[in-house]
Amino acid sequence: MKKIMLSGVKPTGRSHIGNYFGAMKQFVDLQDEYESYIFIADYHALTTLQDAEELAENSLNVALDYLAIGLDPQKTTLFKQSDVPEVCELAWIFNCLTTVPYLERAHAYKDAVAKGKEVSVGTFDYPMLMAADILIQDSDVVPVGADQKQHVEYARDTAEKFNRVFDKAKVGDFSQSFKLPTALILENVKTILGIDGQKMSKSYGNVIPLFIGDEEIRRLVMSIVTDSGSGLPKNVFAIHSLFRDQKSLEALYEEKQGKYQHLKEALIADLTIFMKPLRAKREVLARDKNVVREILKIGGARARARAAKKMELVRRKIGIS
Ligand code: ADP
Ligand code: TRP
Repeated sequence: MKKIMLSGVKPTGRSHIGNYFGAMKQFVDLQDEYESYIFIADYHALTTLQDAEELAENSLNVALDYLAIGLDPQKTTLFKQSDVPEVCELAWIFNCLTTVPYLERAHAYKDAVAKGKEVSVGTFDYPMLMAADILIQDSDVVPVGADQKQHVEYARDTAEKFNRVFDKAKVGDFSQSFKLPTALILENVKTILGIDGQKMSKSYGNVIPLFIGDEEIRRLVMSIVTDSGSGLPKNVFAIHSLFRDQKSLEALYEEKQGKYQHLKEALIADLTIFMKPLRAKREVLARDKNVVREILKIGGARARARAAKKMELVRRKIGIS
């Protein structure tokens, strides 16, 4: 029996090379090894994106992105989070086991508070919905970028807590309710930096999107912020390291030391080669969006059936079946 892998990406904008190298590529690389569940986290996106048309459009686009990078719907159950409404029910149950001080320690929440934002209850509770996504499917591994590590730990803690509280109750079923999931983080990738040197993120407007054309590649590379200090354009180098092995990259940057224009041209060339086949594949897939909708429908039904079954156990455990 294969172990279960699950992960998701929020449909809050265009997928970028940080998403790809930090998380999405792993989904493709691991889909043979694991029983694989990949979803579009539209309920999570609602914490920041409140526009019906945009959310629907982005969700379909993320599905296209997944297929274009090589997720195979024969191997991977691809679905929308909102097609499994049971996760909201489970998140409520987790809310009742979780304390406020514990959620107040979440980095994402603390950052939002530090930036003086008026934080919604959804943002505060984000880790519990994510725990529900993960635990409802009995996931063993969760491939994510380094920034999501703490969230997977929240899921693990929540599974432990639920098991501690309810598995001893005398309600018939004494097996462990939830598996304890593990985050899969590529150590050599970690956090990919954007064109301004901060973490690449849709919310910072500093991304290099996947599937872009030659002109956009050029424009974005030319706008990578270079510091003139050390002779090494750090930000260019960091992005470039995604496309070349360390040795040939170091040789190139040594040879062209200080020649930022040359180095940016080399990065443009490598990015162009990388994007071309991905873009071509996506263009073909985008011609018939109904195929994508059908894939999501089938995946959603499969994911929901598993979740519904899991919820029967959970309801029995807590005494509401
Ligand atoms: P964003 O921050 O751009 O909104 P998401 O939160 O949707 O991205 O992240 C989707 C996945 O991509 C997550 O697993 C996340 O850890 C990963 N990821 C996002 N940005 C980066 C980055 N800069 N470096 C590495 N991984 C990333
Ligand atoms: N929080 C993740 C992100 O911002 C998206 C996500 C939601 C997720 N639920 C998940 C990732 C469950 C892995 C597993 O990228």
